[in-house]
Amino acid sequence: MIVLGIETSCDETAAAVVTDSGQRRILADRVLSQLDKHRPYGGVVPEIAARAHLEALDGLIIDALAEAGLGFADLDAVAFTGGPGLIGGVIVGTMAAKAIALVHHLPLVAVNHLEGHALTARLTDNVAFPYLLLLVSGGHCQLLIVEGVGRYVRLGTTIDDAAGEAFDKSAKLLGLGYPGGPLIEKAAGAGDPKRFDLPRPMKGRAGCDMSFSGLKTALRQAVERLAPNGAALAPRDAADLALFRSRHAGGETLVVAGGVAANAALRQRLAALAAASGMAFVAPPLALCTDNAAMIAWAGLERLRLGLTDDLDFAPRPRWPLDPAAAPAIGAGVKA
Ligand code: KG4
Ligand code: ZN
Repeated sequence: MIVLGIETSCDETAAAVVTDSGQRRILADRVLSQLDKHRPYGGVVPEIAARAHLEALDGLIIDALAEAGLGFADLDAVAFTGGPGLIGGVIVGTMAAKAIALVHHLPLVAVNHLEGHALTARLTDNVAFPYLLLLVSGGHCQLLIVEGVGRYVRLGTTIDDAAGEAFDKSAKLLGLGYPGGPLIEKAAGAGDPKRFDLPRPMKGRAGCDMSFSGLKTALRQAVERLAPNGAALAPRDAADLALFRSRHAGGETLVVAGGVAANAALRQRLAALAAASGMAFVAPPLALCTDNAAMIAWAGLERLRLGLTDDLDFAPRPRWPLDPAAAPAIGAGVKA
């Protein structure tokens, strides 16, 4: 099967084509980052994002098909991010996918963006169900058992900020810029991990929930002690403060996914943890950790194989939890 995927839920406009004929392969993978448009504001501005998706999406779809050497007639379905995310962008992707499905008589598959991240390891490494997944992105931070397509059990979630959000806010505090994750990682390379004793939130507590706001507060207090009156931090201080830690255990294969999974320190620690627990560890290549459309096309293909298609009246979903049975985390600024 060959599936076109469309991703527009945040600040990357993306289109990709994947197939499972013979082996699982990405035939085309186009991502256009809107970073330059949002950078002056220190974060994603939803209206600017929606407009930028609208301007770029058609061209990206044409480019992706050209790169794959295919036309619409060669496709078996069109998959798109139906949520969760910034609603303006999700609407743009949804309408584009519906138009293609209608005109070319193709099945339509609405994909949960988080399921896209969650199933990426099956595209890249053919990981078998069930597996343990640490999903860490700009809007989400969850530990899940992935039992199958559409079947998730949430073991833990952040009770406040998402991991990527913590990176982004901390980078702002440190005066490093936006987006924070990659900049903190770069700064941390020159840092001394022993210099600052930052707290390990929730350590020793029962359950798998996580928290990052206390860490952020501790960081802010440390910054204020070092640079009272808003004076700029010396590069050395920023580097030393920029080290974060995270660990998790359980299951047979440990998979990490989402934008923060691009972080080398996190990958190393998770790999060591998996090894110590006798688990296999899978982390998708960096470009498939941050937002992309190949993951949406792949999740769409997996759903299509199970006959899980959607109607043209599918309504975009700003919120769409993977495990609806799990209680919402009170106080969490997360989208699911
Ligand atoms: O999955 P993603 O591209 O978008 C969402 O679905 O949220 O994740 C974006 C997040 C941002 O918060 C960004 O700072 C973080 O991933 N990120 C990183 C790294 N690269 C991106 N965090 C830590 N280390 C990185 N290398
Ligand atoms: Zn994402």
